[in-house]
Order: sequence, then structure tokens, then C-alpha cells
Amino acid sequence: MIKGLKRFTEWIVHTQIWKSIFRQGWPDTERNRVLTTLNTLIFHLHPIKVKSHALKVNYVFCLGGVSFFLFIVETITGILLMFYYRPTIEYAYQDMKDLEFAVTFGLFLRNMHRWAAHGMVLTVIFHMCRVFYTGSYKPPREYNWCIGVILLVLTLLLSFTGYLLPWDQLAFWAVTVGTNMAKATPIMGAEGPFHLLSEMSDICFYLRGSVDISENTLLRFYVLHCIALPLAAVVLMGIHFWRVRKDGGISGPL
Ligand code: HEM
Repeated sequence: MIKGLKRFTEWIVHTQIWKSIFRQGWPDTERNRVLTTLNTLIFHLHPIKVKSHALKVNYVFCLGGVSFFLFIVETITGILLMFYYRPTIEYAYQDMKDLEFAVTFGLFLRNMHRWAAHGMVLTVIFHMCRVFYTGSYKPPREYNWCIGVILLVLTLLLSFTGYLLPWDQLAFWAVTVGTNMAKATPIMGAEGPFHLLSEMSDICFYLRGSVDISENTLLRFYVLHCIALPLAAVVLMGIHFWRVRKDGGISGPL
């Protein structure tokens, strides 16, 4: 049985298809292992050599990795939800109810999106605490810490913009309160110089797209939630991961 499996594996790694995807041989020698890491898109994000402390689960707790995993879950379930949801006052609430009661596995899909979002907020905060308590924000990692801070803000904004989309009473009033807070922003807020020029030039108006919460707000939050914020997060995560590698891998224990 094991011999047959070995022969089958040997056969696979010598086929033209395998060789066209993986240019080096089977990673059975030191050299082939290095080449596998260098030549594979996903593996090449990892350094060729990893320090042993970086592999200890109780040093990083894989919290950054789990945050990224939850972001992937959010992306996949979010795309599936987009097939059923229309961001208009007429349909938004109805579509959420249909998802719950009419679409097969709709409730499961919506809950997966919801719980992964809650989970991501928690794991990103825990990840930041881990980075802080291991002193990993110190040179040369200050830049990556700052990228991380923006990622934290983006994670919170993703949650906030997603909150309005069900268009129920909870969503409507939570976002009324949330966007009202923007009025207190220095300079760009409701007391700032721009607001004196016109009612339509404070940051709250730009967020809502109107004086009160309206269909414009729903559309703005939908575009921010589904396109602008995830796109910004993907770009910054790319820089974040690349910097972890360029800064010499995971920091050492104190
Ligand atoms: C969407 C949010 C985030 C994702 C997906 C993410 C992902 C990661 C991953 C995968 C690592 C490798 C080590 C590990 O898993 O702990 C890492 C390291 C790091 N992260 Fe994040 N991160 C996020 C947010 C943050 C935040 C909010 C901060 C700080 C404000 C931060 C600062 C750092 C720093 C400084 C490192 C290097 C740590 C070291 O060398 O030990 N990250 N991040």
C-alpha cells in the first residue's frame, strides 16, 4: 500500500503538468527545499530560514495569522452575500429577511459573516497586545506597527460600515449616533470653518451623503464596506506581511 503510494507520488512529480507548475524537483534535498520556498508564490512570502522561537505557538499565538484567516472568511462570505443583497431602501431589509428565511443556508452564511467579523476585531486587538507586550514595535519594526494601527482602524471601519447594511432600526440609529459623532471632528466638523460656508461641507455630511441618514448613506456605506475598505486592507496587509519578512522575521523573545 505504502509502496504503491510512493510510486504514485513519484509518477505525479515527474509529469509535465507538475514540472510546469513547480520548476524544481521534489523538496527532498536542502537545495530543493530552498527552491520550493523561493519559486512558490504563497511560500515565498515566508523567509527561507525561520528562527526556532518564531515557531513557538505561545510566542505569537498565531493571532496575526488568525486575523488574516478571518479576513479571508469575511471576503468569501461577503462575496456570497452580495449575490442576495441590494443596497436600496426598498430592498435592503427585505433581502436580509429573505436571506434568513428563504435562501438555503442563508442564515448560516449571514451568521458566518457576522461572527467572523466579531472574531476579527477581537483577534486584531489581541494581536496588537501581543506585539506590544513582546516589545515587537521597537526598531526596526516601528513602520510595521504604524501600518498595523491603520489596519486596526480599517478593521473597525469595516465593522461600522457593515452595521448599516441590514437597514433595520438598530442599524439606522446606531449609524445616526456614530455619524453624529463625526460632527465633533476638529476643523472638519460641524463647528469648523467649512461648515460656516455651507451646511454641506462638514465631515458628517460627506459620510452620509445627505443631511440625515438616507439612501445616499446606504449606498456610500455599501461601497465603502464592499470595495474601498477591503481594497485598502488588502494592500496594507501585503505591505505588513512583506515588512515582517524584511524586518528579519518575527522578533525574538525579550
Ligand atoms: C488586519 C489586521 C492585521 C493582520 C491580518 C496582521 C497580520 C500579521 C501577521 C500574520 C504577523 C506575523 C506574526 C504574527 O502572526 O503575530 C504580524 C506581525 C506584526 N504585526 Fe500585525 N496584523 C494586523 C494588525 C496589526 C496591528 C493592529 C498592529 C499594531 C498596531 C500590528 C503590528 C504588527 C507588528 C509590529 C508585527 C511584527 C511582530 C514581530 O516581529 O514579532 N499588526 N501581523
